[in-house]
Amino acid sequence: MEHLIAPSMLASDFGNLKSEVEMVNNSVADWFHLDVMDGVFVPNISFGVPIIKSIAKHTAKSLDVHLMIVDPDKYIDQFQQAGANILTVHYEACNHLHRTIQSIKSKNMKAGVAINPHTPINVLNNILCEVDLICVMSVNPGFGGQAFIESTYDKIKTLHKLRLKTKTNFLIEVDGGVSVKNAKKLVLAGADILVAGSSVFKAQNPRQIINELKFFN
Ligand code: DX5
Ligand code: ZN
Repeated sequence: MEHLIAPSMLASDFGNLKSEVEMVNNSVADWFHLDVMDGVFVPNISFGVPIIKSIAKHTAKSLDVHLMIVDPDKYIDQFQQAGANILTVHYEACNHLHRTIQSIKSKNMKAGVAINPHTPINVLNNILCEVDLICVMSVNPGFGGQAFIESTYDKIKTLHKLRLKTKTNFLIEVDGGVSVKNAKKLVLAGADILVAGSSVFKAQNPRQIINELKFFN
C-alpha cells in the first residue's frame, strides 16, 4: 500500500491550533497523530479529550490517538466520543492487552499497540491477528524533537517479515524523529505510516515537508 503521513500535533503551535489544523487539512497528510501523555507512564503531560474534540470539529481526516497513559481502559469511551478513529495503547502500560484491544474494537475504533524502543517485537506474537496497527517507537515516548534511534530499521524489517509469515494485516507505524532524511528508508523497511512532529511543524513550510514525506523517488 501507499504509505500514510500522520503529522503529530504535539509539535504544533497550540495558540494557533485552528490554523495548524487547517494547514494539515490542506496538505497531503492522511491522519492527525495526537499524543496524549499523563505524566505517569511518561515524564511529560500533553493534552487530552477536550483538545481532541476541538480538532475533530475542524477536520474530516482520521484521528490517530496515541495514548501514553497508564490504565487506558478507563478512558476508551471518552476518546471514542471525542472522535478518535484509531486508538493506540502501550504494550508496557497494559496488564490485559488482549482485553484492552477487544474493548477498543468494540467501540468501532481501530486498535493499535505501541512498543517502546527497548521492547522486543516477539512479545506481540500472540496478539498479531487482533491488532489493526503496531506503532514502533523510534524514540523513548514523552517528548517531541528527539533523535531517531537507528536500530528501529531492523525492528520494522522484522515486523514486516513477521506480518508476511503470519499472513496478518496490521499496519506498521513509526513514531519519533521521522524526517525527510529517513522517510524513504523507513518505508522501504516496511513502515506504512510515518508520524512526524518537529520535522513538519518546526519547518518554514510545513506543507512542503508533508509533501516530501509523502512523495519521494
Ligand atoms: C513522542 C510522541 C511522538 C512525537 C514525535 O512521545 O509519541 O508522536 O510527537 O515527535 P517528533 O517527530 O518531533 O519526534
Ligand atoms: Zn506519538
